[in-house]
Parts: sequence; C-alpha cells; structure tokens
Amino acid sequence: MTQHFTFKTESETVEFAQSLAKKLKAGDVVRLLGPLGSGKSVIARTIILTLGTKEKHIPSPTYTLVQAYDDTTTPIAHMDLYRLEDSEEIFDLDIEYYLENGILLIEWPQIADIHLPKNCITIEFAPSQENSDIREMTLNGIEF
Ligand SMILES: Nc1ncnc2c1ncn2[C@@H]1O[C@H](COP(=O)(O)OP(=O)(O)O)[C@@H](O)[C@H]1O
Ligand SMILES: [Mg+2]
Repeated sequence: MTQHFTFKTESETVEFAQSLAKKLKAGDVVRLLGPLGSGKSVIARTIILTLGTKEKHIPSPTYTLVQAYDDTTTPIAHMDLYRLEDSEEIFDLDIEYYLENGILLIEWPQIADIHLPKNCITIEFAPSQENSDIREMTLNGIEF
C-alpha cells in the first residue's frame, strides 16, 4: 500500500522521521529516493539521532559511501550509493552485517537493488519546486 505525505516545512519532515524511527527494527532497509536536496539526508539524520546516537555531527556519506553508528539502540549504516560504480562494491561496505543485525538507510539505492531484500521500506520524494519548503513523499513497505 502506498501512503502519501505532504510536508510543509522541514520540521514536519523531521517529525515524520522521528515517528518512523520508532517503528524500525533490526533487518529493516530504508531506501531513500528523490532528487538532490529533497530531504533524504534529513530523514536519515533524524532517524539516527532518534535512535540515540551521541554523535553531535551526522555527516553525509556522499564521499565515504557509508557512515556507521553502533551507539544507537539498533546499529545503523547510513549509505549514499550515488558514487558506487559496481553493485558488488556494497559488500565492501559491511552490508551483510547490517542486513542481519542493524538498520540500513540507503540514499540512491538503485544500483544495489538486486542485492537488497524484497521487503524494503521505500521513501520517495517527488521533485520539488525551487525555493519551496513543501515536499511530497510516498512511503511503501511499512504501515505508518
Ligand atoms: N519540508 C522539508 N523537508 C526536508 N527538507 C527541507 C524541507 N524544506 C526545506 N528543506 C531543506 O532541503 C534540504 C534537504 O537536504 P538533504 O536532506 O541533504 O537532501 P538530499 O539528501 O535529498 O539531497 C535541506 O537544506 C533542508 O533544510
Ligand atoms: Mg543526501
């Protein structure tokens, strides 16, 4: 079932992500889709903070491909696969450990989809108007 959301401000997106975080459990994979600047990292950062990391700064994994958090209630790997060239490279990112024991938050996941479980949670932002804080989003794979 596809659920539709409209967030009028960044705080509304953050509130959604806080509620979603509380429903996540080990083994969950959250695919984050949408154009640059749509809010994928806002969602990921909020989930990581809500699950209790003591890190003050949640860097974007744009260049490192993965940032791991092991001080959260469930371990989290936050990935950005935009720069991945070959889907097999995700196995260098410890993906198997997190599939079994943690939560995977993946921005630009498409290249790795063949290696991801079928029951992923998918968050997809629609392209947004420039200079607008309004975000349209669809959610699949979890009852919200
Ligand atoms: N409703 C909203 N939801 C999420 N982010 C918003 C919203 N309105 C404005 N923004 C801004 O949009 C940007 C989203 O950035 P980010 O999450 O890094 O995007 P992405 O990871 O999708 O490239 C941030 O600068 C944030 O402050
Ligand atoms: Mg991002």
